[in-house]
Amino acid sequence: DFAMEPGRDEKDRRLDEHRVPLDDLNMTTDQGARVDDTDNALRAGTRGPTLMEDFHFREKITRFDHERIPERVVHARGAGAYGIFELYEPLGDLTTAAFLNDTSARTPTFVRFSTVAGSRGSADTVRDVRGFATKFYTTQGNFDIVGNNFPVFFIQDGIKFPDFVHAVKPEPHNEIPQAQSAHDTFWDFVHLQPESLHMVMWLMSDRAIPRSYRMMQGFGVHTFRLVNASGQGTFVKWHWRPVLGTYSLVWDEVLRIQGNDPDYNRRDLWEAIERGAYPEYELCVQLVPESREHDFDFDLLDATKIIPEEEVPLRPIGKMTLNRNPQNFFAETEQVAFHTANVVPGIDFTNDPLLQARNFSYLDTQLLRLAGPNFPQIPINRPIAEVRNDQRDGFHQHLIHGSRTSYAPNSISGGCPAAVDGYRHYQEKVDGSKIRKRSPSFEDHYSQATLFWNSMADWERRHIVAAYLFELGHVERKHIKEAVVDHLGKIHPDLGAQVAQGLGLPAPAGTQVHTKSSPALSMTGQPHSAATR
Ligand code: HEM
Repeated sequence: DFAMEPGRDEKDRRLDEHRVPLDDLNMTTDQGARVDDTDNALRAGTRGPTLMEDFHFREKITRFDHERIPERVVHARGAGAYGIFELYEPLGDLTTAAFLNDTSARTPTFVRFSTVAGSRGSADTVRDVRGFATKFYTTQGNFDIVGNNFPVFFIQDGIKFPDFVHAVKPEPHNEIPQAQSAHDTFWDFVHLQPESLHMVMWLMSDRAIPRSYRMMQGFGVHTFRLVNASGQGTFVKWHWRPVLGTYSLVWDEVLRIQGNDPDYNRRDLWEAIERGAYPEYELCVQLVPESREHDFDFDLLDATKIIPEEEVPLRPIGKMTLNRNPQNFFAETEQVAFHTANVVPGIDFTNDPLLQARNFSYLDTQLLRLAGPNFPQIPINRPIAEVRNDQRDGFHQHLIHGSRTSYAPNSISGGCPAAVDGYRHYQEKVDGSKIRKRSPSFEDHYSQATLFWNSMADWERRHIVAAYLFELGHVERKHIKEAVVDHLGKIHPDLGAQVAQGLGLPAPAGTQVHTKSSPALSMTGQPHSAATR
């Protein structure tokens, strides 16, 4: 039960020797003094003022006053669970990562599912992206897949993330609407940033209202890299596939569930695990040899694109079983800190500009959210691999280093020399001018949105059109609605025409309403299991 155990160090061992076990369950202060009365503050006379010297009163109130920490700036609402990851076959030809080579290993994991836009107290079953973040506590350190339930993202470059999130979040003057994309700022962003159109198709589909976290896919989204012992890299996309299958709610259910039980998805996950119906997910990979980097009609570094499964099939490599609920929501689910840059030897990044930004952002935000640099020592974040380095001090330092020195190199105590088999970054050749310019290979914003539409059944298309009508129906400014409809017409004439008609707008140029589905456009391949059952 490593993740629940507070850090055991020399001080703990010594304290243990002197520990006075409580022979009853009576209350103590944080300093260990027994409390005689926690219902009545110390006062001067039975009807007199409260006395400052009542340290128990002050401690109790102060601790309460300080209970809140900042919620996550995105993905504030979440639910977590512990699990185990088991590998099907060794992947030594692809990666040196130990947990991807040892089929006998049962690698502990912690997963946090989340919504993105709403605050901590918002409802579960909103139309939104879902986070699917997994921490693998491997023998070589923590490895995180910080993914979503959609395989693509809204933007191509992380420098736009603050703009995007500000547009999605409630409007600044009145904090309305909570966790809905049904407002002007969201659609203003969408029409001005057509790179978001593909992801918005997913958002308007039933994928955005999952029935259960147990029945939801997860995607690492970016192209990452596996590196083997000879230093050879292979591009990889991570996919989680729920063994139960992928299921969604329908909008009418959502509207009722939100009122009946805003904790619907959280409760479902908790109760399933309590009754032993452990959620299972297969980890699958799409592998692309480096020699094929430029073989696609999109850029592998563009996070608004999928690799169609017809072009690169999924290979299942292992299974995760979620088998234990957290004991304390705050200590575990709230304090867990995922980070795309938490990698182990054999797993590396690519130059996807969205990923590069994330590699900066998560640590930065956690330094604020979890009050300083020592949050990796919080039990839920602590690796099972031993941590040893010359970092020191900072708020909430729990480790007591016995050493007299904390620098390297070091001829006094030996210090912590760097390991010869330590993490070695992939030696990618980089050569270019310093410019703020995106590659022309990032320019196509419509083809895969069209691919998504074409892969849908008729009833799924009806749901998508209904979602656009509901969300855009809340937009006040006509020019925004018209501009979005214009983009939709470029994704598919039917989509543009049907949404325009529903909104009482003129059909975008060159489109007309078809009652039957139109034939597929000139796209090859299908999005990954896009159909929702
Ligand atoms: C949180 C996924 C893009 C910044 C999260 C979480 C997930 C996630 C799953 C919640 C983690 C948890 O449960 O604790 C993704 C995916 C992205 C993406 C899949 C695109 C592929 C970005 C970008 C940025 C960003 C581009 C910034 C440049 C953040 C921040 C948090 C967060 C600041 C809060 C983290 C915390 O407080 O611990 N993201 N995100 N994300 N994300 Fe992202």
